[in-house]
Amino acid sequence: MHTSLVCSLTGDVHDLHCLQGLSRAGKPLLARYDLQSLRGLSPDTIRRRSERSMWRFHEILPVNDPAEAVSLGEGLTPFLKCTQRGEFARFSDLWVKDEGFNPTQSFKARGMSAAITRALALGVKTVALPSAGNAAGAATAYAARAGMQCVIFVPEDTPPANILESACGGAHVVLVNGLISDCGRLCRAACDRFGWFDLSTLKEPFRLEGKKTMGYELAFDLADARRTETLQLPDVILYPTGGGTGLIGMWKAFDEMEQLGWIGPARPRMVVVQAEGCAPIVKAFHDGAVSAPMFPNARTIASGLRVPAAVGDFLMLDILRRSHGTAITLSDSELMQGVEELARFQGIHGAPEGGAVWRAAVQLLNTGWIRSDETVVLFNTGAAVKYNHLLRCDHAIRLDHTSPSAMDELEKQLRASDNPVIG
Ligand SMILES: Cc1ncc(COP(=O)(O)O)c(C=O)c1O
Repeated sequence: MHTSLVCSLTGDVHDLHCLQGLSRAGKPLLARYDLQSLRGLSPDTIRRRSERSMWRFHEILPVNDPAEAVSLGEGLTPFLKCTQRGEFARFSDLWVKDEGFNPTQSFKARGMSAAITRALALGVKTVALPSAGNAAGAATAYAARAGMQCVIFVPEDTPPANILESACGGAHVVLVNGLISDCGRLCRAACDRFGWFDLSTLKEPFRLEGKKTMGYELAFDLADARRTETLQLPDVILYPTGGGTGLIGMWKAFDEMEQLGWIGPARPRMVVVQAEGCAPIVKAFHDGAVSAPMFPNARTIASGLRVPAAVGDFLMLDILRRSHGTAITLSDSELMQGVEELARFQGIHGAPEGGAVWRAAVQLLNTGWIRSDETVVLFNTGAAVKYNHLLRCDHAIRLDHTSPSAMDELEKQLRASDNPVIG
């Protein structure tokens, strides 16, 4: 259980026994734990636990008793070594952490499980949040599990799958003719007026706590893959960045693991990947800025990356610099190329955000920023199934099952295709 909440800018301590939003300085609050008293907790103890969710790390999550967790089995997602096919063969140690396997098919489940757990413990009846889509679906599911009401504010062009899953799960869906930042303003005003709890990312302290478990798991995954007891971190992590909660969370996890005595001071180089049409952090990083102004006319088909302004901007920029990382953009067509390549060469049916990090890795390899012998981890943050409206099927063969020459017709069409499957 956390022992205090501190402002990420000023270090000012805030009351942990009541509902909290942003700090008095208007910045994210971070949960602190008594890690010194947890130094007896070993990675091996965690490994031996039977809990099949991220709550196996309950000592560093916001619960007194793991039985209080509002859980749908989030976390412990597949960690897959890439097969050496196509351009993937240019990397000798490339991995995908496939977050599409979470409940509601995205990494947002981790954050919502932690935040709704804490909100429930503090007596919240109704949560509200702005979302690019996946957070809405996850909040709906965890609120349903906790017996809470949920109100979501989403841009009206949010992927239909996200809107439908929220509606089906009983959330009140508010479609807004604007961007997620406009949704955020309306959500805040509604929370003030109706007394709902604002679950906006980084504007409450615990979604970050759930997402940080990606950092813990990664260290265990890599150690297991290398068949060693000692936790390991990769050389490079590529993360598709919107609000940046996952990036900030993982970095926090690495610091906590060092304080627990589980890892040393070495850190991966962190890479922020954004879309060309919405790249506030990439721009601020290359401008040498410490915060990121609102990105004008934000546009990209990767809805999770369409975040023109992030409250954790200064934290992400600090992490990029301290980790000797970098920040890179891709066009929408490049990220969809990435989706197809992950599916065709790796069997991983990922979100456009996952496609983005794969193509970003190729670009960084081409420039020499990543070396082919380095251990590189790509975060696929969601499943392609939520983005069916973006996928195409141009090459289907139509056959008439009543025709006696159906096989001749099939053979003719197969021979004419780019990639014939017959000799
Ligand atoms: C699939 C996907 N990837 C990445 C992101 C960005 O996540 P973060 O806010 O942690 O940067 C989102 C956010 O909506 C998302 O849905």
